[in-house]
This record gives sequence, structure tokens and C-alpha cells, in this order.
Amino acid sequence: MKISERASSFSYAIRDVLAVAAEVEAQGHTVIKLNIGDPIKYGFKTPELLTDPLIFAGKENYNFYADSQGLFEFREAVADYENRKHNVGVTADRVLATAGVSEGIQMTFMSFTNPGDRVLLSGIHYPSYSGNATIFDLDTKYYKTEIEDNFYPDPDHIRSLMNDRTKLVFVNSPNNPTGSVYPEKVLKEIIDIVGEYDACIVSDETYDLLVLDEGLKHIATAKLAKDVPVVTYNGFSKVFLAPGWRLGYTYIHDPENKIKDPWEGLNKLSRLRLCACTPLQKAGAEALKRDQKSYLPETVQMLKERRDLIYKRLAEMEGITVYKPEAAFYIFPMINMDLFKWKNDKEFVFDYLKTKHVLTVFGSGFGPFGENGFRMVYLPTLEEIAEAMDRLSDLLDKNRI
Ligand SMILES: Cc1ncc(COP(=O)(O)O)c(C=O)c1O
Repeated sequence: MKISERASSFSYAIRDVLAVAAEVEAQGHTVIKLNIGDPIKYGFKTPELLTDPLIFAGKENYNFYADSQGLFEFREAVADYENRKHNVGVTADRVLATAGVSEGIQMTFMSFTNPGDRVLLSGIHYPSYSGNATIFDLDTKYYKTEIEDNFYPDPDHIRSLMNDRTKLVFVNSPNNPTGSVYPEKVLKEIIDIVGEYDACIVSDETYDLLVLDEGLKHIATAKLAKDVPVVTYNGFSKVFLAPGWRLGYTYIHDPENKIKDPWEGLNKLSRLRLCACTPLQKAGAEALKRDQKSYLPETVQMLKERRDLIYKRLAEMEGITVYKPEAAFYIFPMINMDLFKWKNDKEFVFDYLKTKHVLTVFGSGFGPFGENGFRMVYLPTLEEIAEAMDRLSDLLDKNRI
């Protein structure tokens, strides 16, 4: 039997590079992996504020099927938490528990779009969005995000891409893979543009509390949106250091009930998979009520040290242009290909892997504006980062034209 056209139509660069890394490892080399955004793989520990309630939830027999929308106590805890953090005025009936943010992304595409509808994605984006847009046969357009503009979205370009079939405009701040945090002004301009259409903003805020610089703060799109509908995602994978929990949530801001029907669609779809994991919802609800000061400031400090080192080293390398990420744990340098022997970002990434045994992800895997860039995760130890940078510096020197 043949693979379906749907399943063969997309690729997922972050995991696709692993097959080549496995070949390099099979030859006996140890690979420094800077490819995957999983803090646990790099020695970070899930805080007790999550793991303690998880044991309790299992013993208390939270082992039943939950309501498809999610345990009420989970949805209520999410609403309180989001309102405390971001003052978004969400209520428990507008929260859906999902198996990670990933499931929320997929269900949004399923419920809000028909084949041929238009969606707007950032020109450099988390590839789950474009993967889903491809399998749901959408008319995907990419708006400009360039390093010269701190990788912020270009509102004029967004305006030029909007049409009457545009259903969803995705924003992701703090951003994976660029680490940029969008200013309020940019978000407001996007909101105004989307408000002129029968469309909705999708705001992925997975990294909201991992802002590294003092004085800078993530602003929730829903807080600014007034009457423009917003679907927001968040979860436990990054800020709570628990990616394997596969627990996330989707909530809507919709004061004028413009997206009432697709929201009902999301809930209907959620019944097909019965429910998100019940004991984790119970534990998650408990964790959301507790004080994150027990681990978050220390985590942010550790990320900041790593960010400072990798940024400093990259900024010194001739032929590399780099933006200092303000949040999350990714950096997205651009290579001036005219100065080197490589044809493109993919060739560079595989050369770095095969000759220097450092695994990164090619920028074009994150969208058309990512061409000639590459993404590195700066979760490893300072020593490993320094080693990866030494090897990069050497590789660049050996490949100058
Ligand atoms: C921006 C963004 N959204 C969503 C996800 C997926 O998150 P989850 O583990 O909650 O499915 C990731 C994971 O890397 C991400 O970077």
C-alpha cells in the first residue's frame, strides 16, 4: 500500500535531521545535539510543584476518563492562572485541555478552516503550523520576519496578504525559533488588520514566562485584542519543564461571539479523542495554583547565561549575522552564503553535523524567510555550548571562499 498524499505532503525538519545524526553516531562519534527544545534532555529537572501533585493524583484515583473539554478544576485553574499573569479575562468555559499545545494547533486547523482557505504564518515559524496547513490543504501565505527588524512581523506585509478567505493569522511571541518578543505596537497593528476581516488571530504563547531580559515582558494578544477574536495556546512543556507530560490548553477571547461556531467545533472534535490525560490535568491544576518562584527565576537565570555565551561567540564570527534572542532557548543565526562554499543552509547544517558532529536544524525548515539561517538550542551546559562554538568557528574558517 502507498502512503497517503496527506502524510507524504509535509516534512518536519526538527525531527528529520535526527536520522542523519543517528548515522554519524553509528560511526562511533558523539554528537552535540543542539536541535531539540526539550529542557529535560539537557539535564533540567521538572519542578516538584508538578511532580508531587502527579503522585497524589494517581493515588487519589484520578485515573478515569475526564470530560472531553477537560476537568473543570483544570480549566478553572487555567483561567485563574492566565488572568493572574496576563489579565485576559478568560473563564473556564472558554478553556480546552489538550494533549500538548500540538493537539490544540491541529484541532484549530480542523475546526476553523476548509480546504483552500487562507492562513497567514510568520515567514520563520514553528513548523507544526505549516505542517498542519499543508495536510489540511490550505492556501498558506508567509509574512515577512527579517533579522534586520529583530524578526518582528511586518504588519504592512500582513495587510497585503489578507483576503476574504483568510481565516487564521498566526503569531508566536516569544518566538520559536528566533527568540524575539513582539512589541505591543506590532501586536496592535496586527489586531487592527485582522479586525477588518472575518478572521481570527491564533497566538501561541508557549514561552510567555521565559523572557530573559529585565524590563521586557510578554504581552498576551488577548489582552490587547478588544473585539477581535483570539485563540491562545499555552502548556506545560516549556515554562513548566515538562514536555513529556503532553499537557496543554487552548483558550479563546471572543467578546462578540464571532468564533462561537468553530469553538463549538473544537469541543466537538475533542470528543473524538475522549479526553486529555486525567491525572496530569489534576496535577497541572494543582501546579498552576502554586508559586513558580521555587524554580522559574533560577531557570531563567540559567538560560540567560547560556544565551549570553552563545550570542557573544556567534557575534564574533565573520560571515554570521545574529540577533540576540530575548526569550525562550533558541537562537537563529543567518549565514552570508556568498562568503562560504556551501550552497545553502541545508548543506551547511549537514556539513556541521558530519564533519564537526554538532546537530542543528536548517533554517529553511522553519519557512521561506529562514533560508540561509539555522536554529540552535542553547539548553546544553556552558562547556558544551563553548565546544560547539569552537567547532563552528573552525568549520567556518575552513569553508571560506
Ligand atoms: C511555539 C511552539 N508551540 C508549540 C509547541 C509544542 O508544544 P507541546 O509540547 O505543548 O505540544 C512548541 C514546541 O517546541 C513550540 O515551540
